[in-house]
This record gives sequence, C-alpha cells and structure tokens, in this order.
Amino acid sequence: MNMQQYDFGMIGLGTMGQNLVLNIADHGYSVAGYDKDKQKVDNLNEQAADRKLKAFEDLATFIASLRPPRTILLLVPAGPIVDAVIRDIKPYLGANDIIMDCGNSHFTDTAMRSGKLKEDNIHFAGTGISGGETGARFGPSIMPGGDKTVYEQLAPMLESIAAKANGSPCVAYMGNGAAGHYVKMVHNGIEYALMQLIAETYHLLKKYAGYTNDELHQLFSTWNSGRLHSFLVEITAAVFTQPDNNSNEKLIDKIADTAHQKGTGAWMSQDAMNVLAPIPVIDAAVSQRILSSMKKERVAAGVNTTELTISKNVNKEAFASLMEEALFTSFIITYAQGLAMMQNASALYTYETDIATVASIWRGGCIIRAGILEDITTAYRKEPELKNIMTSEMFAGTLQKQITAVKTVLKTAIDSGIPVPAYSACYNYYESYHSAWLPANLIQAQRDFFGAHTYERTDSEGTFHTTWNQTIQ
Ligand code: 6PG
Repeated sequence: MNMQQYDFGMIGLGTMGQNLVLNIADHGYSVAGYDKDKQKVDNLNEQAADRKLKAFEDLATFIASLRPPRTILLLVPAGPIVDAVIRDIKPYLGANDIIMDCGNSHFTDTAMRSGKLKEDNIHFAGTGISGGETGARFGPSIMPGGDKTVYEQLAPMLESIAAKANGSPCVAYMGNGAAGHYVKMVHNGIEYALMQLIAETYHLLKKYAGYTNDELHQLFSTWNSGRLHSFLVEITAAVFTQPDNNSNEKLIDKIADTAHQKGTGAWMSQDAMNVLAPIPVIDAAVSQRILSSMKKERVAAGVNTTELTISKNVNKEAFASLMEEALFTSFIITYAQGLAMMQNASALYTYETDIATVASIWRGGCIIRAGILEDITTAYRKEPELKNIMTSEMFAGTLQKQITAVKTVLKTAIDSGIPVPAYSACYNYYESYHSAWLPANLIQAQRDFFGAHTYERTDSEGTFHTTWNQTIQ
C-alpha cells in the first residue's frame, strides 16, 4: 500500500465517526480512520468492502497515510479529550494541514484552539454536525466555521455527504472563528425547547384530555403530515407505538420521568446573557430538564404526585386542534428566539453569519429539521436585516391571530394544574416583544432609589438622578 494515499482522516471511530467515514467513502473519497480501540479499528476494516478506506491502530502510520496538506476530522467526546488528541497529533502535522472538530465542542474552546494552532499555520475548523447516527451515515446537516478558504477547499466533499433539502446540500459556511460550533449550540438549544414544547403538549393531551398512546400516535402522525411536519414530531408519533419487552404496556409508560442532558442547551442559556438575547423558551426547557431530574424532591413535595382526573367534558377533537395551533405558533416563536440570538452573537463575536443560510441548512438532516424552516429561510432572504422573524411579513399576521391559541392553552393548563413553562415562555416573549410599553420605568426608579444608578426621561435627553423621598428606615 502506498503511503500518503488517503484524502481524509478520521480520529474517533465510535458509531458517529464510523458512520461518517462510510458516508465519505460512499461518495468516492478515500478515508483513513484511527482509534485507540482495536475493536473499533477491526470493525471498520471489516466494513471496508470495495470502499477506499482503512482504519489504523497506530497514530503515526495513520497520519503518514494521509495526503498533504492533510485534513483530519475529529469525532471524539467534547472537552479535554479534544485537547489531548490535538496534543498527540500536532508533532506530525505541518503548515496548511486542517483539523476539523466535528464534535459538540464549546465555542470558546474552539476559539482558543484555533488561535493556538494558527501560530503553527494549522487550520482548525470547528464544525457542528447534527442528525445522530443515521444522519452521519446517510446525510447530516453540517455547520462548518473558521477560515473561509478552508471551507471552500472542503466544500465538494461536505456537500456530497450532507443531507439534501429540495436538492440543495445542508451544509454551508457558518462564519469566522468558532461560528460553526456556535450555530450548533443554538441548534441544540432550539432542539431542547421544541422537545419541551412537545412534552408539554403530551402532558395536556394525556392528563387533561385523556388521550391514549394509540390516539397520541395517530394525532402526532396527522400533525406531522401538516404544517407541523418535522423530525421531532415524526419520532414522537413513533414513540407511542413502541411495545415494552418486559410488560404488556407501551415502553413510554415504563420510562422514568427524569430527563438527562449533556449541557449544550445550558451553554446557550449561559451565553444568551452575554450577548443580551432573551431566549426564555430555551431557558425554560433547560430548567425543566433539571427540575425533572429532581425526582425525589418532586415526590416529597407531593401535591401533584396523585393522578390528575381527566376532564370529563373535553371535546377531544377541538382540543387537539387548539394544541396543534399552539404548538405550531410556539415552534415559530422558538426559532425566532434562537435565530435572533444567533444574530446578536454574530455581531458581537464578528462571525458574519448569514442567518438565512443557517435556517436553510437546518431544513434537512438535523434534529430540528422542520417544514417551517423553508418559510423562515424565505423570511430572512427577503429581509436580510430582519431583527426577528415574528415581525416579518411571512409571520407577523399569522402569529397575531394564532397567539390566542397559546393563551388558551395556558389558561387550560393553569386551571388543570399542569405546568407548561415552555408555552408560557413563548407567550410572554411574544407579548413582551410586542409591548410598546413595559413597566421598566419602575425598575429604573427603584435602581436610582437604592443605588443612584440614574435613569432616562421620556421628555428630555440625558441621564438623571433624583434624591428620592427617603421614608424607609
Ligand atoms: C444532534 C444532537 C446531538 C446532541 C444530542 C444529545 O444534533 O445530532 O443535537 O448533537 O448531542 O441531541 O443532547 P442532550 O444529551 O444534551 O440531550
């Protein structure tokens, strides 16, 4: 075998890495893989068939097998392992080699790593990939950032392996620096919020309206063939039919109600404060995952542990149609929050991200893919300076009419003792955003009262401070 014959290298041959290697090889490229785990190396070599791919157990041999300038993709767990891999491979790398980190790395780590590697003329392209194992194998959505010329070099391969939406590949340049991983973080925050909205919908349908698993399956399937068409609604429909192998019940009723997380949603909430972007529905989704995990405290606190009585007078069909409208409306408000934050971040961190392009590459391959992203893309293309899709020609009128459905859902939920923090966050965000007046004048007065923080006036320019009537002891 000749040395330096492979077009691309992949470090990390877990399921995602392996599937991405097979996807790249299926599109006519030659790929070398590396993993410390012999079993993973053997496993990939067994699947090579007539593809131009080979997995190695020895790092030096693996790197020597790549054609310079080398392109090495990483699919290893985010965090210190990425740094350890970079440390291990760096001695073998030279000028213009490219490292493409395809994991869910924190954008600040990506910025730091690319800065350090630049000193040695090594390119570091932080790249978000979404779509899980199937996506990696047959077409993910790919969010690459960093040096644009590097992206252009890799574009033919990336476009060939990415999912296609209406014929166009779900990959595009996301912007400078750590933009790729930032966009992926925003994707994941939106993912958390859409999942929470669906979970709250399930809660109401099951506990308030008495929907059975079969009925829920039917309903979500019907919704998926309409305007709510999306990957998450589609898999939700499928979840309700899954039998449990250990009982006669459906698996959904045997799964513990404590949600886990790897932190990417929380990262988005944390950075939202830095970029001054309100994203209450994502915050609510993250908080609700944490609350769900506090099972012992919830049980001890008690009030809601007894089964709620299903309302006897619910017109199931009418309620389902209300829920569909509320969910669709809240989906739009969720994308609005996420993309508005992306716009703030792009300006602050000088990513120069094109928001329409972000929406367009989420139309296929990723976890938050949804029919509505077609219209969201169009809205941003029509008005590139758009601050928020809620005010766009495409959505303003629809939202104004349909926000009533969210309000009605909130009232029903409150009256039935069903928590709906994500719906509530969407409703209050919409109402606040559309309020020409908010009671922040009182907050300013209080700040000036106790801390001489000053305030602005409605009738004259400048900042003011008042010596307030101090009657407080
Ligand atoms: C994707 C997903 C994926 C994410 C999982 C798990 O786009 O394929 O966003 O990257 O890691 O969804 O996230 P949590 O464990 O935090 O729920």
